[in-house]
Amino acid sequence: MKHKLAYRLAVTYGLIFILAVAVIDTALIIVYRDNQLKKNESFYFDLSSMLSTMVKNNIRITNYINTSEENGDRNAGRVLLLDASGKVLLDSGGELSGVSMTNLEYRKALENGKPAAGYYTYGDKGMAMFSYPVSIEGKTSAVVMISVFIQDIYDDINRFAIQVIATSFAVAFAVVIVSVLMGKRLSEPIVRLTAAAGQIYKGKMDTIVEVARNDEIGRLAGAFNRMSSELLKVETGRKRFLSDVSHELKTPLASIKALVEPIISGAANEEESREYLQDIDHEIDRLSGLVGSLLTSARLEEVELKRQELILAEEVDYTVRVLAPLAAQKQIVLENACDRTIVIQADRSMFREVLINLLDNSIKYGIEGGFTRVECTRKAFKVIDNGCGIPEEDLPGIFDSFYRADKSRTGASGSGIGLFIVKRIIELHGFGISAVSQPGKGSEFTVTFYPDV
Ligand SMILES: Nc1ncnc2c1ncn2[C@@H]1O[C@H](COP(=O)(O)OP(=O)(O)OP(=O)(O)O)[C@@H](O)[C@H]1O
Ligand SMILES: [Mg+2]
Repeated sequence: MKHKLAYRLAVTYGLIFILAVAVIDTALIIVYRDNQLKKNESFYFDLSSMLSTMVKNNIRITNYINTSEENGDRNAGRVLLLDASGKVLLDSGGELSGVSMTNLEYRKALENGKPAAGYYTYGDKGMAMFSYPVSIEGKTSAVVMISVFIQDIYDDINRFAIQVIATSFAVAFAVVIVSVLMGKRLSEPIVRLTAAAGQIYKGKMDTIVEVARNDEIGRLAGAFNRMSSELLKVETGRKRFLSDVSHELKTPLASIKALVEPIISGAANEEESREYLQDIDHEIDRLSGLVGSLLTSARLEEVELKRQELILAEEVDYTVRVLAPLAAQKQIVLENACDRTIVIQADRSMFREVLINLLDNSIKYGIEGGFTRVECTRKAFKVIDNGCGIPEEDLPGIFDSFYRADKSRTGASGSGIGLFIVKRIIELHGFGISAVSQPGKGSEFTVTFYPDV
């Protein structure tokens, strides 16, 4: 069942409602029934009280009680006057006169000196019996008895009960329908989210769920969509990275193979062979550089940051020392213009990787006799050079993996993974990185320590 939640909700609401309504209905019917019977009771007690007073005052009641037209007629009823021994002194019906009889109501009125009422069924009809004592000087000497059919009152009570129960059933039905609809409205986006999650599981990463709602479910859908677009980005990045890696590995391997073949077949003479072997050596260097970079970038995904206090100027000193021989080849001056008091919280080996990559680039893409200067403030540090610069159209891509700006400008070759690693390390630290450059004039890379502050 797709909307299990909706039906569960409807059943729960329905049951709670029916239970509540059953209690209310029962109470209502009981109160109504008691009310109707009480009204009837008080009418006949009034009547019998009047007859009792007349008997006490020796007024003949025969004229009054004989007015009944027909026994069993509720309005007329049947009136009896019994003495203390149970003998019928008067009977509105006539035939019981002189007969001895006792019943519960009679005995109650006689013994307690109080009126009593009892309810019976006669045939299939409801009947009520009322007794009223005739007390003279505190002693009950006779009892007025009235029996009357009250089936019409019972019918009225039954009609009332049926109406109340029918109304309740109609409302309960409506409640169940409304709960199903409400539950469906509630669970519908969840059903869609579940289906979308299934799609993502099957690899359809660009699945988006449209939920135009402002509540928790709307926010859940929003979070889901953000997650799926993030997954899509990661997945696309992963695929692109993989194909880039394969491509980058294939190219030097193919050229190595092309260089090896004439040597093996003997088609190349000794001088050519030496030249080819030098080229092969160069390609192997490139390959091992690439594999080293790949390993570094793979390690970044697993390694945890070990932050410690670093004096920035000292780290720059170290990098300058490491790269000095490379810089010397192009007579590039490496200048550390950092304030010695600036301390940052960073992972030492990762941070050195950043500095080495940035300075290595500025040397690799620098001009003969140029310079590279590292400046820093409390908020950021800059690596500035007067090298070949980066064309405007290439700037946005330089931090992507395997991105190389036009090689013909510099003749320098790299795998294009250095800045990708730099960016990843910077992000891991929560820092920011940006670059500005003017082709032919130089570049400036800025690492911001606390971009949000
Ligand atoms: N200081 C710079 N001056 C001019 N161009 C630069 C500079 N730094 C980076 N670039 C350009 O950005 C590209 C990407 O740099 P990145 O460091 O990622 O790759 P790479 O240096 O080519 O190779 P790798 O660092 O992996 O050996 C470079 O190919 C180069 O075109
Ligand atoms: Mg580089």
